[in-house]
Amino acid sequence: MAFRNTLLTAALATSGVLAGGYSGGGPTAIIDAGVVIGTTTSLPAATASVNKFLGVPFAKSPPTRFAPPEDPGTFSKPIQAKAWKPACIQQFNYPLAAYEFTNLVYNSAHPKESEDCLYLNVYAPSTPAPADGRAVLYWIYGGALQFGTAGQLQYDGSAFAAYEDVIVVTVNYRTNVFGFPSSPALPSDGHNLGFLDQRAGLDWVQNNIHAFGGSSSKVTIFGESAGSWSVDALLTSFPAGSSPPFRGAITQSGTISYPGSFSFQNPVPSWNKLATALKCSGSDAAILECVRAAPAKKIQKIIDTQALSFDPTPDNITLVSNPAERRKSGNIAHVPVLGGSNSQEGRSLAVGQNDTTAFLQAVGITDETFTETVLAAYPLGDGTAYDQIAQIFTEIAFQCPQALVSNDTANAGIPAWRYYFNASFANLQAYPGLGVYHASEIPLVFSTYPVANATTQEYALSTFMRGAWARFAKNPAGGPGWNAVGTGAAGQVLVGATQLELGGLYLDGAGEVEEGTWDLGVLGNRGEVMGAGVTVVDQAELDYRCGLWAPLYALGVFG
Ligand SMILES: *[C@@H]1O[C@H](CO)[C@@H](O)[C@H](O)[C@H]1NC(C)=O
Ligand SMILES: *[C@@H]1O[C@H](CO)[C@@H](O)[C@H](O)[C@H]1NC(C)=O
Ligand SMILES: *[C@@H]1O[C@H](CO)[C@@H](O)[C@H](O)[C@H]1NC(C)=O
Ligand SMILES: *[C@@H]1O[C@H](CO)[C@@H](O)[C@H](O)[C@H]1NC(C)=O
Ligand SMILES: *[C@@H]1O[C@H](CO)[C@@H](O)[C@H](O)[C@H]1NC(C)=O
Repeated sequence: MAFRNTLLTAALATSGVLAGGYSGGGPTAIIDAGVVIGTTTSLPAATASVNKFLGVPFAKSPPTRFAPPEDPGTFSKPIQAKAWKPACIQQFNYPLAAYEFTNLVYNSAHPKESEDCLYLNVYAPSTPAPADGRAVLYWIYGGALQFGTAGQLQYDGSAFAAYEDVIVVTVNYRTNVFGFPSSPALPSDGHNLGFLDQRAGLDWVQNNIHAFGGSSSKVTIFGESAGSWSVDALLTSFPAGSSPPFRGAITQSGTISYPGSFSFQNPVPSWNKLATALKCSGSDAAILECVRAAPAKKIQKIIDTQALSFDPTPDNITLVSNPAERRKSGNIAHVPVLGGSNSQEGRSLAVGQNDTTAFLQAVGITDETFTETVLAAYPLGDGTAYDQIAQIFTEIAFQCPQALVSNDTANAGIPAWRYYFNASFANLQAYPGLGVYHASEIPLVFSTYPVANATTQEYALSTFMRGAWARFAKNPAGGPGWNAVGTGAAGQVLVGATQLELGGLYLDGAGEVEEGTWDLGVLGNRGEVMGAGVTVVDQAELDYRCGLWAPLYALGVFG
């Protein structure tokens, strides 16, 4: 027996991939830092229970304030990984009404906050892994690079692990001044700490995911909003021919290539205002040390009330200065990409606004003729100015940037798929009338919507979307299950149909097949049909106004 054990050990050692040795079972894993003890959960009708490892250190925590993440070192005692760790210090900008609204819609979990926050969470099936390891989905949360936390119900990866046989990792990263400090005393590669945290988490996955049954060569990065900017920053900063620590990417509602109304500002003035408010003075280095020594709560109060913005700085390492051009030239990571946006993103972001001209001015459109052109392109109809602003916001900041990125990706010879999420549910309306708002697809992707009062459409659409995301993670080159961008010719299969389209085919009133590129997957409602899957449409149907915004995008990422 001893002999056989030795042989087995030798076989495992020479295979070099311990994933093959993941025989399933209890929630204990041996990682580089030591032993981690997790917890287990079971979901209804799932074949596998889920091992959850919550709050695993992927870097030294707390990190040195305003410094890059460091190696976590090793732990002599087992790490108890049974509960989410605090969020990194979050920023919610004043005025008070805005502060309260953002908290209501995007921070309802009210997590504890701390600088001791560099932890990640792993959700893995408990059953034995295949010899080559399971696919891994690596989640980067949104929050404008100002707030957010991996440890919340919405981002619980248990359903993915239980029903799709994939592993989910959700990572904390520093945001606002703690993640993107703009002191001139810092080195040029020491400003985008939040992005470095995300990369440290990815390195951790490369080195440790085998211990959970995962494969380091089957990683798909995905993120929403600022998490999607982060995914785009990763895609565009790994040059063609490099070996990025991921083989697929999903962008949900956000690109860093065509920021529209979100172009990044020089963050140094904000740093100076913070220093002044803290009464820090002297040389740049002296000010940096002074801000480093200030209580975190005091810093938080100042950046909240003064609404200071600490945007990322192009360093050509974590963020290139010209992501759109990089993509067009093909000099980016060549990995398949799935990306999309929601039909009413702007409704949660424009609440309280009722002056369209003022909104346009705020995004830099002051020319009278241009303003009139825009107003004519988005007629008020029976709606309110808020509806109009929300629709412009949706297209300018999310839908049209995604359309351009999808097209640029496909044109660079990189497989791309695109979706358009179009369904809303009463139990996900954080505020009346938000419709298909920014971030409302997340509980569908993760199946973390409230089960008790979910509708049949909600259940079915969530199952479909979770499946599509997992299908993509398992085989990115195969796509999520509909036509890649730039492919998909129409062809008639149904004669005499009265509905406009069926089975992904589009017929005009006379029953003739319409021409077009059939490559945009509408998820959920299609016209008046409350769908629970995908209907493929021509991008042109929804993007016909995108050309309007080209002059804005031409201004680049950095305003
Ligand atoms: C980044 O690279 C661009 C050229 O691609 C250059 O113009 C810019 O100065 C570089 N920025 C930094 C911070 O190195
Ligand atoms: C527009 O908003 C302002 C400020 O919130 C408010 O005072 C005004 O009554 C609103 N106007 C309309 C027409 O809703
Ligand atoms: C994307 O490409 C399609 C097909 O060439 C084109 O019809 C559409 O206008 C493009 N979208 C944008 C936003 O440029
Ligand atoms: C759905 O149920 C949750 C509790 O699970 C409750 O808070 C919420 O108000 C319900 N929403 C609707 C629209 O019924
Ligand atoms: C999105 O859903 C709404 C409401 O169900 C519907 O009116 C609209 O036509 C749908 N959009 C598309 C592109 O089908």
